[in-house]
Amino acid sequence: MTMMTIQPPAIGPYQLPNPVILAPMAGVTDRPFRQLCRRLGAGWVVGEMVTSDPSLWHTRKSQLRMDHQGEPAPRVVQIAGGDAQMLAEAARLNAELGAQIIDINMGCPTKKVCNKAAGSALLRDEALVAEILDAVVSAVDIPVTLKIRTGWCADSNNGLRIAQLAESAGIQALAVHGRHRQQRYTGEAEYDTIAEIKSRLTIPVIANGDITSPEKAARVLRHTGADAVMIGRGAQGNPWIFQQITHYLTHGEHLPAPELAERRQVLTEHLHALHAFYGDTMGVRIARKHVGWYLDEDTRFTHTEQRRLKQQFNALASPDAQFQWIDDAMTHSASQHLLAKGTHAA
Ligand SMILES: Cc1cc2nc3c(=O)[nH]c(=O)nc-3n(C[C@H](O)[C@H](O)[C@H](O)COP(=O)(O)O)c2cc1C
Repeated sequence: MTMMTIQPPAIGPYQLPNPVILAPMAGVTDRPFRQLCRRLGAGWVVGEMVTSDPSLWHTRKSQLRMDHQGEPAPRVVQIAGGDAQMLAEAARLNAELGAQIIDINMGCPTKKVCNKAAGSALLRDEALVAEILDAVVSAVDIPVTLKIRTGWCADSNNGLRIAQLAESAGIQALAVHGRHRQQRYTGEAEYDTIAEIKSRLTIPVIANGDITSPEKAARVLRHTGADAVMIGRGAQGNPWIFQQITHYLTHGEHLPAPELAERRQVLTEHLHALHAFYGDTMGVRIARKHVGWYLDEDTRFTHTEQRRLKQQFNALASPDAQFQWIDDAMTHSASQHLLAKGTHAA
């Protein structure tokens, strides 16, 4: 493939080092995962959405979501809600708490928040979208970005109109997931609407949806002319994807897949960070889904073996047992041994 010269965008005062961004994913892009993805080459990371209702911020869930301790700039906080004034106040309070960029969620098919439509459900109501964007942008003096889908439904792909509203409201970058709201996560992402939006806007446009390989990232960038790509599910169990994509775009060739020793080290580091961040009980539970994703990506195993290994791992109840299992599983012969002996004692 030919190399691509992509000039990574600047968002407000923040120059991205590369055009590969970690998508916000509730329940996934917590601080440990964001830090890991950054270390492994993500040019920009967005945290899990935070409700715009401050009366819920005292909950452990919100507290953990709002924890950006030790993260390098820019700290991007995504807010979700359906009330313009509440979102504006949430943006202001988060800026006071140290957010350096506010991202508004109009991309996620979230359930209602505070008895109002939120996330991509807002796309149906363009007047409300305009009201929210104006209110949030004027509430803070830090950059505000927006994440949308291509529109509300197939008959009303109003993504372009929303994008234009965003640009005129002073939104400083726009991420677009190439599905409309009613598709949720079904079907395939399309990139024509993103290309059209990019061709009509001057602010940076970020293409998102089903980008799971360097080739796909290059294809989407070429097709849309977007300034960057945003990776969600493709980073689950594969935090190396950021450096793989950047390398491919820059050099036109693949980075070798990470060696087993590297996979083992990253997995161990990730689990240590999860246990420290959530505490042992919750950390052990949250580690299970990540290890499940790492196993899905591990081509040494068949699907049946992956399933058996996940069952074994899910039965482990302490950090020590989880680390021991990783040590065993991360060498080929030992993983055969693990498979042979069935469930590992916790
Ligand atoms: C588990 C999960 C949680 C998500 N949470 C959010 C969120 O908090 N905010 C948001 O804007 N989008 C959220 N999304 C949507 C993703 O950011 C992204 O737009 C979508 O997954 C498509 O990208 P992908 O195909 O690369 O995964 C979530 C997606 C998943 C799978």
